[in-house]
Amino acid sequence: MIDIAVLASGSGTNLAALLEVPEVRERVMIVISDRADAGALVRAREAGINARVVSYRSFPDRRTFSIAVADAVEDSGAKGVVLAGFMRILSPEFIDRFPGRVLNVHPSLLPLFPGARAVEAALEAGVDVTGVTVHFVDEQVDHGPVIEQVEVPVLPGDDAGTLHERIKAVEHRIYPEIVSRFVTGRLWQDGDRVAES
Ligand code: GRF
Repeated sequence: MIDIAVLASGSGTNLAALLEVPEVRERVMIVISDRADAGALVRAREAGINARVVSYRSFPDRRTFSIAVADAVEDSGAKGVVLAGFMRILSPEFIDRFPGRVLNVHPSLLPLFPGARAVEAALEAGVDVTGVTVHFVDEQVDHGPVIEQVEVPVLPGDDAGTLHERIKAVEHRIYPEIVSRFVTGRLWQDGDRVAES
């Protein structure tokens, strides 16, 4: 069993979906946000989970911020990290502290449209299909061994809001199931590949 920290900057709908799965809920030691106003913090506290803010602006640079987040994860006892809409880039110093034990969900079919504006970028590119990627995180942004990708259609008349809602519905379906396999030791990173039992 792997205890986890969930990192989130936003409304926390992915966190809520994760907490609905009992074997995941039991393993969440802490929720950490870079934003004091993140809805995810409210959801964590309502669920009785330790919630902590590590403000980006309190640190001189990304490296020291990332080390402070890693310290907060470790202080909680968590051994794994689940990114659920965490909008800050973590430096290699962070990833090195949890090798093979950081997961992310991203609202596009990576390597297409990495970064914070993935949904808008897909619309601007005029693609018919975008999607969701769940992956282990390496030292590059929105990069690392892919665990699962699911396509999501872009429909006529979509704006970023409608498309993101359709994408999130898929995230909420697949991420809890994948995180459940990770915390129960049925899914792990083996170098640059994904291993399952
Ligand atoms: C999700 O679409 C996730 O893929 C992206 O940020 C969004 C977070 O949404 N990285 P929420 O805070 O879980 O509602």
